[in-house]
Amino acid sequence: MAKYKIAWMPGDGVGNDVMEAAKIVLDAMKFDAEYVPADIGWEFWCKEGDPLPERTIQTLKGTDCALFGAITSKPRDEANDELAPELKDKGLVYFSPIVKLRQLFNLHTNLRPCKAFPGNPLNYRDDVDLVVFRENTEGMYGGVEWFPLPEKVYTAMCDNPKMVKWKDKGLENVALSTRIMSSQGCESIVTQAFEYAKTHSRKSVTLVEKPNVLRETGGLITRVAREVAKKYDIPLWEANIDAICMWMIKNPQNYDVLVAENMFGDIISDLCAGLVGGLGFASAANIGDDYAVFEPTHGSAPKYDGMYKVNPMAMLLTVKLMFDWLNEDDLASRLEAAVAKVIKEHKVGTYDVGLSNTTLEVAQEVARHV
Ligand code: IPM
Ligand code: MG
Repeated sequence: MAKYKIAWMPGDGVGNDVMEAAKIVLDAMKFDAEYVPADIGWEFWCKEGDPLPERTIQTLKGTDCALFGAITSKPRDEANDELAPELKDKGLVYFSPIVKLRQLFNLHTNLRPCKAFPGNPLNYRDDVDLVVFRENTEGMYGGVEWFPLPEKVYTAMCDNPKMVKWKDKGLENVALSTRIMSSQGCESIVTQAFEYAKTHSRKSVTLVEKPNVLRETGGLITRVAREVAKKYDIPLWEANIDAICMWMIKNPQNYDVLVAENMFGDIISDLCAGLVGGLGFASAANIGDDYAVFEPTHGSAPKYDGMYKVNPMAMLLTVKLMFDWLNEDDLASRLEAAVAKVIKEHKVGTYDVGLSNTTLEVAQEVARHV
């Protein structure tokens, strides 16, 4: 029997291309695992009306963790248009299966390292080494939203004097997406950011928020972060989401570990990825108490589907995060060193770095160095 059981979820679009690349490297490293395929993504929405079928959830429950490629997400009306004719107008509503997975498995922490590898011509600067801790189940993406508003919610909200602007518009004309945060959720994500900073000798933790406007939720996470910070010898800096988008472009080397609620973490992690070569280099781990799903930050890039054009480094660095989580430290450092070497040599690479190799050729080159 293999040491690990890994759920294998390529998803859609270039998810397949990059997962094939991952397999080349995993095999070259003789990683002792059984890979269990699991259905997820657009195809299953169109065919079955469910992008995350129940059988997939059951499959995942029987594995140690999951590797995931990418999925396509489309807005409500477009999603409805692409449903199989017999499923149309049955009230099925598309949801992002990765967001649902994060919630179902309580994968509360989204870890997104963004490091400038020497020799990457796309580095904004060579001294960027950031790690984003994004809260992954609450906040603006907690999924509590309505359109149209149920009467009860509308009436309750009308108690707030600020509702005066929306009161007379009629409940069928108002949409509401909430930003819902708990003390526990805030404490957990901030604590993990500090623990990481401590064990990795990082110099600071920056909370990315907007508490001067989002007074209740922003206020809560700020208070919690200040409390948590007291237990550590590492400074807590506080930055507003808008200001930090400017400062990170001016002085990214001043930042280190960043922590944020779900949507701000989503935004800031794309910005950080941009500083180190773009989404082709951005890895991510969705981590819960006893399960984790590893996925590159990039999406499914449907226009490149099956063309083996996209950069597999994000996926390979994601595999490295899986090794870290499994405490396979030797595999993790060998893989990262191989990725670093291929980037530095700059002989084999995909179009985004100015070379012309395929996704799989880059993976083979990494495999040669592991
Ligand atoms: C990400 C993506 C997803 C998210 C989308 C595809 C739902 O942007 O992982 O950053 O917002 O979490
Ligand atoms: Mg994103």
